[in-house]
Amino acid sequence: MNILVIGGGGREHTLAWKLAQSPRVEQIFAIPGNPGMAKVAQCVEGISLDNNEMIVAFAQQAAIDMAVVGPEAPLTRGLVDALEEVGIPAFGPSQAAAELEGSKSFAKAMMEKYHIPTARFKVFTKAEEARDYVKEQGAPIVIKADGLAAGKGVVVAQTVEEAISAVNNIMEGNSFGNAGSRVVIEECMVGEEASLLAFTDGETIVPMISSQDHKRAYDGDKGPNTGGMGTYAPAPVMTPDMVEIAVEKVLKPIIAGMKAEGRPYKGCLYAGLMITAEGPKVVEFNARFGDPETQVVLPLLKSDLAEIMLACCEGKLDQQEIQWSDGAAVCVVLASGGYPGSYMKGAPIHGLEEAEAAGTMVFHAGTAEKDGKIVTSGGRVLGVVAEAENIKAAVDKAYAGVEKIHFQGVQYRKDIAHRALERMQG
Ligand code: AMP
Ligand code: GLY
Repeated sequence: MNILVIGGGGREHTLAWKLAQSPRVEQIFAIPGNPGMAKVAQCVEGISLDNNEMIVAFAQQAAIDMAVVGPEAPLTRGLVDALEEVGIPAFGPSQAAAELEGSKSFAKAMMEKYHIPTARFKVFTKAEEARDYVKEQGAPIVIKADGLAAGKGVVVAQTVEEAISAVNNIMEGNSFGNAGSRVVIEECMVGEEASLLAFTDGETIVPMISSQDHKRAYDGDKGPNTGGMGTYAPAPVMTPDMVEIAVEKVLKPIIAGMKAEGRPYKGCLYAGLMITAEGPKVVEFNARFGDPETQVVLPLLKSDLAEIMLACCEGKLDQQEIQWSDGAAVCVVLASGGYPGSYMKGAPIHGLEEAEAAGTMVFHAGTAEKDGKIVTSGGRVLGVVAEAENIKAAVDKAYAGVEKIHFQGVQYRKDIAHRALERMQG
């Protein structure tokens, strides 16, 4: 098979790395890819991710047998539909199904209709009414921009003042464009968060190993929200019983509901869960693999990813036997100093080979090649991943790799997986 991977972050590097292990895969292309992916894929320059036509034309010309779409934006712009229209199987949801991530109000309405546990909520299109509702409900309370906002559209407000200024900023400021014309206001849920990703062909659902992300920038879960500073898998909070509850109460009803609505969902469904005293509740759905969850989930997959993905495209997931390693994996993200605020680019990165010699895998997220050297080019630069028999051993191994890597201003969390470690000690 010839495979086309869409995207160029740490998630896509991990997808390409895992796909390359399949004996059925001949060649992998990536648009745009990154210098790390270049080891396993041919990176294609000059095609914009928002140009469906050019991507489809490239896929036809390169005789692609299956495309794998990483990020949410091309999914919500209908790239999967465009590829399928010319007969190229594409792993990922259609535009209509990707609404589950693209519109929070759609996702909430689906959860309400299909009785899926989630935070109580109300949707507003008028700022005045939203402010009145906030005053009536009090704090803490959660304010969300309706559309895609690159992870920046959510404010967990501790005071009414903070909530009102979030409403004003989202609905009356300019930073969110169309995504801010509508807000979802939610009850603030209390508990531990976990991510449960699943393969689905629209009918059969196979949950992956659970994982947990660290979204805050600094140690102790302090500082601003980021795209994710590190992950570990499995998440101890997701016991086998809890996974089963989540499959029954969340994954099965949402996949059946999407089918009933005429928006059958195939690909990877990401359920962001809050494990509350009343059980798992949905924080959000994403229409794609998580980043950096993928970096810890896929190393634990023992089966052939290309076969599983093709089975999802062909509606034959029930015929796949999917096996997981019983070890653990940890990912530490190395970011540019200043991230998630402004940061410098172009710093040379040293020690990549030494980190790999120390037994870690290094997935590239924001890197570029300049004069034959790898340099920084984004906020999240690298994901250093280790696999071991348990989380403690994987943490030690991952940080041993991290210590080998240097670039100017490097910033990373030193406490990845602390909750899991505390849980195991306690
Ligand atoms: P989202 O972009 O929906 O994933 O939200 C970003 C983060 O905000 C989540 O990972 C949670 O930590 C937090 N969050 C979102 N919704 C809620 C909620 N209803 N209650 C508590 N925390 C929330
Ligand atoms: N790591 C969170 C996400 O991929 O949305």
